[in-house]
This record gives sequence, structure tokens and C-alpha cells, in this order.
Amino acid sequence: MNTEVVQLDPTHLDPVVLRRAAGLLRAGRLVAFPTETVYGLGANALDPTAVRGIFWAKGRPATNPLIVHITDEAQLTKVVASWPPIAHQLAERFWPGPLTLVVPKNPVLPDEVTAGGSTVAVRHPAHPVAQALIQAADVPIAAPSANRSTEISPTRAEHVLKSLGGRIDLILDAGPCPAGIESTVVDLTEDCPRILRPGPITLPMLKATLGPISIIPFASEAPNAPARSPGQMARHYSPRTPLILVTAEQKDCVISNLRDERRNYISWKFPSDPAQAANQLYDVLHRLDEQGYEAILIELPPDTPDWVAVRDRLLRAAQQEQ
Ligand code: TXA
Ligand code: MG
Repeated sequence: MNTEVVQLDPTHLDPVVLRRAAGLLRAGRLVAFPTETVYGLGANALDPTAVRGIFWAKGRPATNPLIVHITDEAQLTKVVASWPPIAHQLAERFWPGPLTLVVPKNPVLPDEVTAGGSTVAVRHPAHPVAQALIQAADVPIAAPSANRSTEISPTRAEHVLKSLGGRIDLILDAGPCPAGIESTVVDLTEDCPRILRPGPITLPMLKATLGPISIIPFASEAPNAPARSPGQMARHYSPRTPLILVTAEQKDCVISNLRDERRNYISWKFPSDPAQAANQLYDVLHRLDEQGYEAILIELPPDTPDWVAVRDRLLRAAQQEQ
């Protein structure tokens, strides 16, 4: 299959390109598109065959459910069975934006999307291209990050092409994604809301909206514990080059060891602002991974609420294949 890459200016959307991309989605094909977090690999969420195509293209285990992207009430209604008051409250505050809410699934939604589960993860993205594409297709769009399973997530169209070229029909290229890491996932199906995946919407931001309602913070799961969020495998977002994470105190000692071993390594220091670091994280990993080093050395940011999402992605990226 030939994968076409078409450029789209997010400030001047070309209706001809959008109509074509929407037509492909409605015909059951796969289209990668930018969101404010990372590029997504989209398929019509109501078409089980199209959704199976996503799992095939990514090499994703069928047990890992997908996020459904919507832009209006009518699409939301097709996806969810109920919309609890907390969902309403969070969506009012953070949608459109990088927050995914897990709620009971509408029975008409194919089981392929939710990996047979009774809940669905749903989000209204903020990126103008994502919004225009979903509106033009006029169906809810299932979209995981547009990378092969366990590899680094894509924040540029060229990352998508490198990973999925030849396996999907079209990539809409609207330049780099502003947030740079995946949405925060919050489960609303238990008594207390629970953060399943940390992301751009942080615990303090959620707390400020929920007020007295307590929220269970993200907790890194032990590698062998049964996963609450099936996609949170220990190894994820990984470059092929071994990634070594160090604390500020360990750094000098690790570097002198690498030198003794004559290993050809590259060291990367993050910007001190967590949002800027998130914006650069995957792009930096993609670039360093291509440069033939024997190791990538990164200083782990501090264990504070602002850095939870970046630390989570780094810790997973550093896991070696088991
Ligand atoms: O920012 C994002 O969320 C991007 C863009 C494209 O929207 N999408 C994304 O999708 O990161 P993906 O498939 O790479 O990650 C979805 C995460 C996985 O960890 C998955 O297990 C979890 O959401 N998830 C999906 N449905 C779920 C459900 N019903 N219950 C619990 N977790 C769910
Ligand atoms: Mg992913």
C-alpha cells in the first residue's frame, strides 16, 4: 500500500483535502492526523473491520482498547451509555483538550474498540485539523497514537511515516503537535475518579475543578501487576537505542563508567519547564534514536506533580524488552 502524505495548514484548512480524508474514513480506511497531543491513527469507530485495521497496522494486542474521538453531543451519544455528572463537569472545563474520560460504553459501539470491555475512553480533541476531520467524516473516530505498538509516539508526520509507512492510506501533515505527550486518562466508572495515565491535564488541575470530590492519583504499576489500563504496559514509547535514566547525583558517575567502557553515548538535558519538556520529549527520542549512539543518557526530572507525565513516559521508554 502506498501511504500518501498531504500537508494541511491548520490556520487555513483546505476543504478538498478534508473531504478526501473524511471519505477514506467513511470507506473504512485508515488516516493519520494531528491532535494537540500526538498524531493519531484514525478509523471509523462504528465500523468493526476498519477498527481491526488499526490493530493490524500498529501490531497492537487486541486486548488494548482505543480512545474514541468526538466533536459534538450527537457523536458522544453514539459512543457512551451514560454521562455522569463528573464527566459533564470535567468536559465543561477541559474539552476540547487533552483529557480522556472512561465511562460506560454504548452497546452499539463495536467490541473491537473497547477490547470487549464494558467501558469506553472518549475525548474531544482541541486541534483544528482533528476537529475538522471528525466533523467532515461525521462519525466518532477511534484513534490510538499513530506508531507501531511499544515504539515512540509520533509528534510529527515524518515520525508516523517512518513507523507506519506502507500500512495506512493517508497522513495529514499539519506540523508538530503542541503538547507532545498523550492525553491524561481518567476513569469515571468507579466511586472515585482515578488517573489511569498522567498527561498534560495534571492532578492539581483536576483537583481545582473537582473541588471536594477526591481523585485517586496516578500510581505506577508494578511490572507484573494486572493492568487497570490495559495499554499501560511497562515497556512503551521505547527507542531502539538503550535509554539510561539518571538522577542529578548519579550522572557524573554513570558518565565516567560509560567513558571507561568506551561506549558512544549522547546526553540530553531537558528544558526546566515541564510543558516544554513534554513538547520536545518524543521528537528528541526519535532524533537521537536515529543517530547510531550506543546509549542515550537523560537526567530524570524531579518527582513532583508537574513532572509526573514526563517521568512516566521516560520510565517506560527506558524499560528493556523482556
Ligand atoms: O492523546 C491521546 O490520547 C492520543 C491521541 C491520538 O488522542 N491517543 C492515544 O491513544 O494515546 P493510545 O491508544 O496510544 O492510548 C490509549 C490509552 C491506553 O493506555 C489504553 O489502554 C487506554 O487509553 N484506554 C483506552 N480505553 C480504555 C478503557 N475503556 N479503560 C481504560 N483504559 C483505556
Ligand atoms: Mg500509544
